[in-house]
Amino acid sequence: DWTADAFVESTIANLKSQLGDDKVVLGLSGGVDSSVAAVLLHKAIGTNLHCIFVDNGLLRKDEYEAVLEQYKHMGLNIKGVDAKERFLGQLAGIKDPELKRKAIGRVFIEVFDDAAHEVQDVVWLAQGTIYPDVIESVSVKGPSATIKSHHNVGGLPDFMKLKIVEPLNTLFKDEVRRVGKTLGIADVILGRHPFPGPGLAIRILGDVTAEKVAILQEADAIYINNLKEAGLYDQVWQAGAIFLPVQSVGVMGDERTYENVICLRAVESVDGMTADWCHLPYPVLAKISNEIINKVKGINRVVYDISSKPPATIEWE
Ligand code: XMP
Repeated sequence: DWTADAFVESTIANLKSQLGDDKVVLGLSGGVDSSVAAVLLHKAIGTNLHCIFVDNGLLRKDEYEAVLEQYKHMGLNIKGVDAKERFLGQLAGIKDPELKRKAIGRVFIEVFDDAAHEVQDVVWLAQGTIYPDVIESVSVKGPSATIKSHHNVGGLPDFMKLKIVEPLNTLFKDEVRRVGKTLGIADVILGRHPFPGPGLAIRILGDVTAEKVAILQEADAIYINNLKEAGLYDQVWQAGAIFLPVQSVGVMGDERTYENVICLRAVESVDGMTADWCHLPYPVLAKISNEIINKVKGINRVVYDISSKPPATIEWE
């Protein structure tokens, strides 16, 4: 029978003998998987694990600072890299979702590679790949998975020539959470909603600008904070706000406004492969809508996505 305790014990022992005194780099994303992988490796090899956390400017509001602080608090050997400008610069004018993903993937590899090169004599690249990622990256060869090119797997540039270590690649998500719990990782990290690697770039339909990112971050923060306050965050599998490139007429005092629309998405799911839209209570939706429209300049309308997957995907791009 699989238990988290036994998994932790045997994995740490295996990592110790596999890695010895080698140095390892790992890209942290703030998500559950990379966090659990980092703590496991840290227990096994201590400061020979060098974690890199890239700010691509497409994270949730204040997420970079908060997460970096949490990781440092956990004792991880971590370096934050502010690459906001570089990502936004490379995204300028790109409207196509797949081209956005490609640009972000390319810049991430460049930034990560620069940071990894600063670690002398690094031998290994650790990744938080879990079993469903392995399956999905295999199925990328099939027709359905080309719908969106996920780049969590295989994002390794050839020229880095590092050996790969993936301590979680036999586990499902719920097992990863149980391992995280055994390792003493905080619930705020283990319970965090999944968040896509390309971040808010694929929640801004059309081209991405710093201004749109700032607007979406504000709206998204209001949304997520209200879900938490209402005790709904943990019941929802994934939630996020989407910036629609649509302007509509509104009225504010005596003035006619002509501004953008924010769409709210919340889904229930087990693994993200299928999903149902959440029936959030109307009073909560009403409060979120009012708060966003009153507080976020540039938004005069909020809508709620009532589409399930399939056929609608969770993300809009
Ligand atoms: P979709 O939109 O395909 O999303 O229904 C399923 C799950 O995958 C996440 N997602 C991504 N994650 N890179 C990622 O790391 C991506 O390009 C990407 N696209 C979608 C999405 O947030 C959801 O959890």
